[in-house]
Amino acid sequence: MRQRAKFGSRFAAIMAMAGSAVGLGNIWRFPYMVGEHGGAAFIIVYVLCCLTVSLPIFFSESLIGKTTRKDTYGAMEQIAPGGKLKPVGFMAILAAFVIVCFYSVVGGWSFNYLIRSLAGSFNGLDMASAREVFASVGSSPVESVSCMLVFLGMTALIVVAGVDKGIGRFSKISMPVLLVMMLLIAFVSLSLPGAGKGVEYLLKPDWSRLDGPAIASALGQSFFSLSLGVGCILTYASYMKEEESVLTAGVWTAVFDTAFALIAGFAIMPAVFAAGIEPAAGPTLVFETLPVIFSKMGVVLPVIFFLAILIAALSSSISMFEVAVAWLVDQKQMRRVTAVLSVFGAAVVLGCACAVAPSVFRACDFVSSNVFMMIGALAFALIVGWKLPREEVLRHLRFPFIYAVIRYVAPVMIVAIAISNLL
Ligand code: PFF
Repeated sequence: MRQRAKFGSRFAAIMAMAGSAVGLGNIWRFPYMVGEHGGAAFIIVYVLCCLTVSLPIFFSESLIGKTTRKDTYGAMEQIAPGGKLKPVGFMAILAAFVIVCFYSVVGGWSFNYLIRSLAGSFNGLDMASAREVFASVGSSPVESVSCMLVFLGMTALIVVAGVDKGIGRFSKISMPVLLVMMLLIAFVSLSLPGAGKGVEYLLKPDWSRLDGPAIASALGQSFFSLSLGVGCILTYASYMKEEESVLTAGVWTAVFDTAFALIAGFAIMPAVFAAGIEPAAGPTLVFETLPVIFSKMGVVLPVIFFLAILIAALSSSISMFEVAVAWLVDQKQMRRVTAVLSVFGAAVVLGCACAVAPSVFRACDFVSSNVFMMIGALAFALIVGWKLPREEVLRHLRFPFIYAVIRYVAPVMIVAIAISNLL
């Protein structure tokens, strides 16, 4: 029998999980959400959501991976021989695959912007031309598709190099570098005249804005940010060494992810306010507002910024790509290289559709984040809370209150967020 791949060290496993967690969600959604939903008040609720719901689900998902030592589909089959849970495994793999396809389009835009910033083409950019550039990048099929392919190709190259030599090594190097780059941008951003308003936007607590939708957003964001429900964490945990703890890995991942989201907030919002621009979220923030602002600060800062986005996106996309690769390697006994080529081939087809048709992009985003992810996370919590033997769960999770949260609190909260997202 072939030896199953493993991460070479605890650091590699934790950096890989942190890499999956840290992504576009931290950079383009979190800072804006904080400002819109009550600053420090939202941050407190976000941290509470992580502690009480998302982290316990993270523990559940990683516990399943670590104890079964299988890919997502194989893990479900092992837990319920006879196939009752097979659809859950299959759906999670499909969700990770769908996410990587539309995520690669955005990864491609980041690559495109990195090249443009290296060529110095953002010099003297104003808001109107920034909008034109982004409209042309997004709507030109040749540009969108070719950059998406480059991004997907980079993802495949890292994954094909192996669990430890590819994913582990990339994560061990890129995560600390990413942190330094974001800290540097935050430092520059905070030293701009007028930056104080951005800090106020992020930190001034406004409890009156903390309504039901704000709390649901905090939960949804902590979910997406920790990459839950689609098998990424399960698959990575299945590569952890026997002696590693899922508790330690989960806590470090959540700390890194939250710290990174806050640093991204301090890198972005003070600069936005210093430039006197209204804050926005999503692609508008990253591909229109920020190029205008950073282009006024020399050629190096935009390069660092887009390189940081590219690295953050890549470290997440490799985790989604690996979910399907692990399934083909474990269940279909494919060689790693054949599995990577197969996933790459399939992702090119759906990725091209996402790159040229915004409606396909939006549908993939909606279905995977609001439906598949939620069902996957609910299933993982229910499996650990109600199906696995209590002693085995407690051997890994140690604290009975975490077990109680997984059994009762997490499932109810997931159903609540899913309903509020779909309404
Ligand atoms: N956690 C990533 C982010 O915050 O951008 C997104 C993500 C990665 C979602 C992996 C789902 C996933 F399986």
